[in-house]
Amino acid sequence: MIRLCAVDELAPGRARRFDVDGLRVALVRFDDDFYAIGDRCSHADVSLADGDVLTESKELECWKHGSAFSVETGVPSCLPAIKAVPTYDVVVADGAVFIVQDKNREVHDR
Ligand code: FES
Repeated sequence: MIRLCAVDELAPGRARRFDVDGLRVALVRFDDDFYAIGDRCSHADVSLADGDVLTESKELECWKHGSAFSVETGVPSCLPAIKAVPTYDVVVADGAVFIVQDKNREVHDR
């Protein structure tokens, strides 16, 4: 598991970018639920964590052209992005947030 941050370092309704172990991860929080997806938009190399968190649809909206990515599946719901971004399993333990890196899935998603 890879530690990203303490639970209280990310407020509900916010997203934050982490560069860990060669991964670029956008961590998103809805109430007490955390989700982690690849931070690099699949349309161009911009940070998804800099976009808006869409609470109702549980998506992260790319600030550049507006594609919204599901934080559960990584799949964009609107153009121009058509390719999914990776998703990571999240574990909350001892007051901290971790991701579980699935190396096979990471390779598959590239
Ligand atoms: S760069 Fe993200 S939708 Fe274009």
